[in-house]
Amino acid sequence: MKEAKNIAIKAAREAGKIIRQKFGEKKNISFKDSSQLSIVTKVDTECQKIITSILKETFPDYNILGEEAPPEKNNSEYTWIIDPIDGTYNFAHQIPLFVVSVALKKNDDVILAVCYDPIHDELFYAEKGMGAYLNDKKIQVSGKKLAHSSIGVDWGKEEDFSFLSDLQKRSSRLMGYRSTILELCYVAVGRIDGLVVKGLDVWDLAPSLLVTEAGGKITALDGSPFTLEKKDLIASNGVIHDELVGIVNKK
Ligand code: IPD
Ligand code: CA
Ligand code: CA
Repeated sequence: MKEAKNIAIKAAREAGKIIRQKFGEKKNISFKDSSQLSIVTKVDTECQKIITSILKETFPDYNILGEEAPPEKNNSEYTWIIDPIDGTYNFAHQIPLFVVSVALKKNDDVILAVCYDPIHDELFYAEKGMGAYLNDKKIQVSGKKLAHSSIGVDWGKEEDFSFLSDLQKRSSRLMGYRSTILELCYVAVGRIDGLVVKGLDVWDLAPSLLVTEAGGKITALDGSPFTLEKKDLIASNGVIHDELVGIVNKK
């Protein structure tokens, strides 16, 4: 496991170097669909390639599931899950809020999450059962109650966010960074206290391991046990979790 962690960190940092170099430049943006919600730049695909080739040098037989390339299936029980830039809109518009993410799944369980914010040089990682870290210092979720909490909200193409006004009233403030993975990192380190996410992909949700390893809680949106395929989640410091689930699911 130590080797997997070190290689994932190396891959995330190498991609981060490219991203830092290109950050201030004007980007050619391509839209993945007519809604223009999902965007990609050449840097996303370049970073996907760099990360994949570094991982493959040491782990040639693992499966690979990345946002910007077709999946590689090798019948391994291990799968690398890559989001080369989470927060591409921010990256492409010179908003310095995005991360490189490399996670590792064994069968259905995420066992490693490495997330690197190249602009602020912040490296978040967690290994299953070993705690969560920011730049090698152990991190922990906040202990705030709902009334004093800051809650991130993020969504893909889902339209129904009718619980927002309730959530606004019951919490202290709503936040939206448009980088789900950065928001998961921020819950883990206690910069925000909860996160409600709808309609996202496996690579956006895999780093939720950071939150559980930092002492927080993750469930699916309806409060049932979280799985990567459910496309949504509620992440929290644990203290406010049941209240968040209640607000989001109130009919
Ligand atoms: C996006 C981010 C964002 C979410 C978008 C995603 P990308 O991922 O996770 O937070 O709101 O729906 O597409 O495309 O920047 O990797
Ligand atoms: Ca993403
Ligand atoms: Ca991405």
